[in-house]
Amino acid sequence: MTIQNNISLRPFNTFGLEARASHFASFDSVAALRQCLRTGIKPVLLLGGGSNMLLTQDQQALVLKNDIKGIRIVRTFDHKVWIEVGGGENWHQFVLWAVQQGFGGVENMSLIPGTVGAAPIQNIGAYGVELKDVMLRLTAVSLETGKTKSFSRKTCRFGYRDSLFKQTEKGKWCITSVVFSLTKTRHKLNTSYGDIQKTLEANGVTQPTIADISKAVIQIRSSKLPDPANLGNCGSFFKNPETTTAILQKIQQTHPQAPFYPLTDGRVKIPAGWLIEQCGWKGKRVGNTGCYEKQALVLVNYGGATGQEVKQLAYAIIDSVKEKFGIALEPEVNLL
Ligand code: EPU
Repeated sequence: MTIQNNISLRPFNTFGLEARASHFASFDSVAALRQCLRTGIKPVLLLGGGSNMLLTQDQQALVLKNDIKGIRIVRTFDHKVWIEVGGGENWHQFVLWAVQQGFGGVENMSLIPGTVGAAPIQNIGAYGVELKDVMLRLTAVSLETGKTKSFSRKTCRFGYRDSLFKQTEKGKWCITSVVFSLTKTRHKLNTSYGDIQKTLEANGVTQPTIADISKAVIQIRSSKLPDPANLGNCGSFFKNPETTTAILQKIQQTHPQAPFYPLTDGRVKIPAGWLIEQCGWKGKRVGNTGCYEKQALVLVNYGGATGQEVKQLAYAIIDSVKEKFGIALEPEVNLL
């Protein structure tokens, strides 16, 4: 374990933004993490894949990169299997591994950037499936005491792009491993999301396997979402806002085609990408940053953008959506 000083964080965030860390180290085991914590340098900032954060300034902190690897089957049953995955594993590589083994449950979440350890923090999800649907428990190390604790699915208090780790326990834990419960047979295929059904049909698939679904999701995502290797971004920048049916009805008076998803509590969720596009932002470039041409929910770095520039664009978008629709968008990414 070596602590480095004054390190560029550009390679560690998918937006490709320049910001420096006063102290930096990576760890590949719980013991190495504890060693880093024992240096007493504070505050501690944990990095996963850096795919959900906007660096708006240099970090006077001990920035730690989770490199804990490993995928192992901890228990097998007739129809399911429990798998423990190191927090530093790449999420998509884990999904590909599961699909290849014939284990079902994570295929709809193919190609989501980031690490396994970061996935529970915002309860990642796509195409009708969320992490909470497949997670059994996780192990985390307290950044305060260095002690290990197990969290069940229930204690994580998962919500839409939300968990305990974004609320009361924010910034207090490092998720070192996650246990998933995946199916070996009797897979619960989720093809209800419109785009998946359309893509499977276009691929000539009538009886989809988990591999067919993973392939379809990869096709959809690659066609709509920019690859951070070519164009810096953090996926969805904003959450899809939840609002009342009264506000939706008001919007429908002028926009009868407005898309929405009914929620169980009688409220509705309106796609932020649609609201942003209606305000004229889609494909718009402002300096070195902009709103992606194929999915307005994604902000991009055309090269050389600063975190402040991206933040300013985000706030200009929030203001115009608020003015036009009376809805306050909230960032999904963490502003640091
Ligand atoms: N839409 C527009 N204009 C746009 C973008 C979207 O009109 O520029 C409309 C679409 O036509 C569609 C609706 O908005 O009617 C929904 O669009 P899409 O299916 O692309 O999904 P989304 O609501 O924009 C969410 C997640 C994504 C996830 C997809 C698929 C959030 C914040 N985003 O996006 O997650 O992949 O659904 O399940 O919930 C992420 O969190 O980083 C992410 C990419």
